[in-house]
Amino acid sequence: MRLTVFALVALLTLTNCAEKNRSFSKADIAIVPQPLSLVLNESSFALQDGQTIFSDLDEQQSAVKDLQNYVTATTKFTLVANADKQSAIVFEKKEGLDPEAYELQVTPKKIIISATGKAGYFYGVQTLKQLLSVEATKESQAITYLIPSVAIEDNPRFKWRAFMLDDARYFHGEAFVKQMLDQMALLKMNTLHWHLIDDAGWRIEIKKYPLLTKVGAFRTDSEIGTWKSGKTSGQPHGGFYTQEQLKDIVAYAAARNINIVPEFEMPGHSSAAIAAYTWLGTAGVKIDVPVKFGRLYDNYDVTKPEVVTFIKDVLTEIFQIFPSEVIHIGGDEVGYEVWQNSKSVQKYMKEHNINTPADLQIDFTNSISKFIEANGRRMMGWNEILGKNIHTDFEEKQGDQEAEKELAKNVIVQFWKGDLELLTDAAKKGYGIVNSLHDRTYLDYSYESIPLEKAYSFDPIPEGLDKQFHKNIYGVGCQMWSEWTPTNADVERQAFPRIAAYAEVGWTTMENKNYDTFKVALKKMQKHWDTLGINYFKDSDKLEAALQAK
Ligand code: ACM
Repeated sequence: MRLTVFALVALLTLTNCAEKNRSFSKADIAIVPQPLSLVLNESSFALQDGQTIFSDLDEQQSAVKDLQNYVTATTKFTLVANADKQSAIVFEKKEGLDPEAYELQVTPKKIIISATGKAGYFYGVQTLKQLLSVEATKESQAITYLIPSVAIEDNPRFKWRAFMLDDARYFHGEAFVKQMLDQMALLKMNTLHWHLIDDAGWRIEIKKYPLLTKVGAFRTDSEIGTWKSGKTSGQPHGGFYTQEQLKDIVAYAAARNINIVPEFEMPGHSSAAIAAYTWLGTAGVKIDVPVKFGRLYDNYDVTKPEVVTFIKDVLTEIFQIFPSEVIHIGGDEVGYEVWQNSKSVQKYMKEHNINTPADLQIDFTNSISKFIEANGRRMMGWNEILGKNIHTDFEEKQGDQEAEKELAKNVIVQFWKGDLELLTDAAKKGYGIVNSLHDRTYLDYSYESIPLEKAYSFDPIPEGLDKQFHKNIYGVGCQMWSEWTPTNADVERQAFPRIAAYAEVGWTTMENKNYDTFKVALKKMQKHWDTLGINYFKDSDKLEAALQAK
């Protein structure tokens, strides 16, 4: 059973030399991601049953609860809430810190967690959890729970630290998503980019258009193995989240300082929706939810007012489910042939002085961006939305894809493919950028192509980008596309342990990053995953040795 309760012991070091109190060495400290500064002092704090815990603000309560649950699960001790500031563990407001920053002071007598708000307190607790050391004496088997005396000041390098889960190709389900959120939280990742809609499945209940899930969430079979393998599983597949479930997951994430950014792909990758409602498509051809993966033929016909109304209706329900400021609209890999072959689309383009299909996409994207902004949100999309042709490898001739029009300014661009100059240009123009360069951050890629060290050494700020534009690089995303990982165990093998490397990419300064230190800390994290039954990839060391030997 994958209960968090049993997971906790995994973080802990079991030694044979328990003392009531002892000093620790730097080698005993294993925190992922590595904090900004850590001073290790003599002695330690010994955790005991019934110790008091002080907090006086609402914004501290999710961190307090998380710590209490963790301590009880790990030690069976209870931490007792107390109105006295002389308590053993104290949560303290400290003005002037950044929103996710915290300070953690541990002395033999007291633990103080200071922050300026909810996120900081929560992260202070995540670090405290990783510091807890369980020690047993050989003779008596008496166990003590020690926390090394430390003074930590911590603050993330980037504000955007994302994991993307592709729930469209395979439906993973509520329990799995919550497990991922738990692991992200411990790693101080703050964004779940949730790819919920694609050709292969529509996973969000939309009340106004019930066929989206009734039809679009299910397919009769699935291609397996790899692209164009010609093999299928022979099994039907499907599933979706009700709005109630989604709201519950959003709240679960929020309690862990994780914002969920939903992705509603448009105008391509839209087969599941077109299977539900043929009139959404450009080709006017009735289709089933595709069994094969890859870029597919039809797109939303963005020149039809009823299609634009549909998209706005769906977005309106999405706004009600997801409080996220940022709403992702996909925008990648749009095949333009279906628009080029449509008389009515061509007529529309002529009438509106739109010269290329890339411009039609930008025109549409900008109008949806306006709608999103009018609703108090902000659009995000894959970097094709800038209108540059980054696909030289598509089989079909796309014609001239370079757009003349410019993407609306307030949009966040998720850079995944193309010349790095496109990224630096966009950053210079003032776009917010999330760096998800595919050959450095795609978790579906093999460990041979992205070994752990390559994942770890990724820098979201491209070389040569002038310092004044660094602020436009919001951070990093790592993406778990799931075409070829039908089971949750497959997804875990691809995501873990690389997700921990990306967590450190997003959090830790370049000066503090050290792959050897990371690997030592990762060992404890792996024990934690072991107790949870998480199927992480275990052969990183072997693989790296083999790659070096080559
Ligand atoms: C993508 O990998 N198509 C964004």
